[in-house]
Amino acid sequence: MRCVRTIHWGTGAMGGRVLALAAANPGLEVAAVISQRGVETGRQAVERAVPGGIPGVVVAADLEAAVAGSGGADVLLLATHGRLAELEEQIVRACRQGLSVICIAEDTIFPWAVDRAAAARLDAAAVAGGVAVVGTGANPGFLMDYLPLVLLQANRGWRELRVHRKSSLDPYGASVLEAMGVGLSPADFEVAFERAGESFGHVAFEESIGFLGAHLGMRFEIVEKTTEPILGEQDGEPVVVGLDQRCVAVAASGQRIVLEHPQSRGLAERGEQPSDLIEIDGDPPLRLRAEPGVDGGAATVGLMVNLVGAVADASPGLHTMANFPVRALTRVRRAASVRPEHEEGAAA
Ligand SMILES: NC(=O)c1ccc[n+]([C@@H]2O[C@H](COP(=O)([O-])OP(=O)(O)OC[C@H]3O[C@@H](n4cnc5c(N)ncnc54)[C@H](OP(=O)(O)O)[C@@H]3O)[C@@H](O)[C@H]2O)c1
Repeated sequence: MRCVRTIHWGTGAMGGRVLALAAANPGLEVAAVISQRGVETGRQAVERAVPGGIPGVVVAADLEAAVAGSGGADVLLLATHGRLAELEEQIVRACRQGLSVICIAEDTIFPWAVDRAAAARLDAAAVAGGVAVVGTGANPGFLMDYLPLVLLQANRGWRELRVHRKSSLDPYGASVLEAMGVGLSPADFEVAFERAGESFGHVAFEESIGFLGAHLGMRFEIVEKTTEPILGEQDGEPVVVGLDQRCVAVAASGQRIVLEHPQSRGLAERGEQPSDLIEIDGDPPLRLRAEPGVDGGAATVGLMVNLVGAVADASPGLHTMANFPVRALTRVRRAASVRPEHEEGAAA
């Protein structure tokens, strides 16, 4: 059986690690790498990911050059931006080139929750190109949505799903820390929060809730969304070291989803450690705890690469993670009917 050929767009923190994992997988053939910062940056990224380079790989500064130079591929692994507004054009261009797309952007986990019209355009582009498009990632994409959905299958009825993810910001660089308000005084935080509003910190509660609602066949309304600074101390003064965010959604039936996501620097110094907790108040009740918590970067890289085989064989259209069988890197028969209910306008 021939290898699945991949093109990698985005050679940042995640894209570089995805490239290394894909290049090491005998079931995949890395055909091309694209860096928006230019060919030289792309070459350096390839060398960093795979010292000595990847035989035959084409490095380009844009998608069309990558496809032309490499002779094409099956799946594009897209790790450039987080927001749908920036990604739509990249995904549509990939569909036109006959490439299926796996993207780790937060907005692509459940695009219908972000912009229904844009989601419809992506679906149409995928269908026209005869390719599949899907978003994945640790969170959103797995820990607060896909995994709870799987766990809810083993239940005769439930009242509340609660997911609590406490994670460390220590591994992250300046852009993430800035987006979390880290380093600000409490007063400056209030001003920055006022200005940035909903786009402060974790931005994907809507996507996780939309995903769960669509696949459970239920409509959830977000009734509470809070963001509190987590304070530490610097030179004797209080300083923001992270954010504690919470989102509550309720269905007409009274069933509730509670998502809680405290993220901060210096957990170890405060005697804490990252953890993941999924609690289902149902029949049977369920309490699943991961300690230490799941490493979001490593999990995101694994999810993206492990999906390649299934996405290469999926039916054309815009998908969610729930449409794919839980099988790592295996070729699957073209799925017959995997459209989630939301496409019929039933939920979300
Ligand atoms: N769903 C999830 O759980 C999950 C997990 C992790 C990340 N994400 C999302 O995935 C996306 C990519 O994450 P990432 O950590 O790989 O982001 P990143 O390191 O910032 O890289 C993303 C893009 O930024 C560019 N870039 C990197 N360093 C740069 C620099 N010094 N100057 C200018 N441009 C630079 C890269 O350019 P090139 O194209 O030139 O390589 C790449 O296209 C983000 O939107 C992130 O929010 C989601």
